[in-house]
Amino acid sequence: MTHEIAVIPGDGIGQEVTPAAVKVLEAIETVDFEFVEGEAGDAVKDETGEALPQETREIAADADATLFGAAGETAADVILPLRDVVGSFANVRPARSYPGLDAVQPDTDIVFIRENTEGVYTGIESEITEGVRTLTRVITAEASRDIAEYGFDYAKQNGYEDVTIAHKANVMRQTDGLFLETAEAVAEDRGADYDTALMDALAMHLVMTPEEYDVIVCPNLAGDMLSDLSAGLVGGLGLLPSANIGEENALFEPVHGSAPDIAGKGVANPSAMILSAAMLLEHLGYDEEGDQVRTAVESVLESGPRTPDLGGDAGTTAVTDAVIDEL
Ligand code: NAI
Ligand code: MG
Repeated sequence: MTHEIAVIPGDGIGQEVTPAAVKVLEAIETVDFEFVEGEAGDAVKDETGEALPQETREIAADADATLFGAAGETAADVILPLRDVVGSFANVRPARSYPGLDAVQPDTDIVFIRENTEGVYTGIESEITEGVRTLTRVITAEASRDIAEYGFDYAKQNGYEDVTIAHKANVMRQTDGLFLETAEAVAEDRGADYDTALMDALAMHLVMTPEEYDVIVCPNLAGDMLSDLSAGLVGGLGLLPSANIGEENALFEPVHGSAPDIAGKGVANPSAMILSAAMLLEHLGYDEEGDQVRTAVESVLESGPRTPDLGGDAGTTAVTDAVIDEL
């Protein structure tokens, strides 16, 4: 069986790390892929006026899964609609420390399960009058239930003990009140243990004692920020993969953006993107192959070669080829 994968490199280092992940997938002999490339981001907007051309939407909608690199300034015009195209309701962001790497917190193994459709990312903003602008934060019981169910299932299936529900219901009483009560009801229905945490204090606890957390279920913006914070604990954005999961389709992308400060130099760390490809393999049912890719990346992270963000002097291609050698 051949799996059709939409490949959307986007801008900046997306153009460097996405081909690296494709090269790794091509090296897996037990799975057949057909890659269909689509354009998105700043460059295609400059050319055509549209950051996410209709053709690219169709490529993603028709594929079995999508690999997306990163967009630049047009990120919101690309990734938000793309997540919509694949019907994604859950954003899964694992933040793990790896042996041999100089991490701020070497005992970190946390998976953020971030609500991916609403919260403050609905784009419902307006200017009331000059100097006064508003944003509407939307929380629904349905999306809160979906993300909580996904989070508790994920914890169970992946052998994680602790689930923490992050919220700020003491201040956002209506919206996070609904998020919290819905997520707690899901836990109680399942007889699952859980903790709750105010998201601001949680940020501090994550920095000081990340080893106390396993799976964190959170509203959209909190999940975005807390996962980037956790990237800093384990060695930087070059290491964090993510999955956008829908009922029938899914998109895999590194947590990082287009990194204009290092783009074009061939030194971007491909690990986050290759680990995203490992999540894609698992999503398609190839658990063993996904595991092999992750183990190969871990082994290269430990023994080198490493890119400059991790203190090394190797380029993207040398690291990618080392991962393929390990495979
Ligand atoms: P960024 O993630 O692109 O970069 C932040 C820092 O991390 C930079 O110093 C960068 O060099 C470093 N970094 C990121 N990925 C790396 C990698 N693979 N290897 C080595 N170093 C890496 O975030 P920033 O600078 O805030 O945003 C840059 C652009 O990316 C902006 O235009 C923003 O809109 C866009 N962006 C796009 C996203 C997406 O497409 N999903 C997500 C976040 C930002
Ligand atoms: Mg982000």
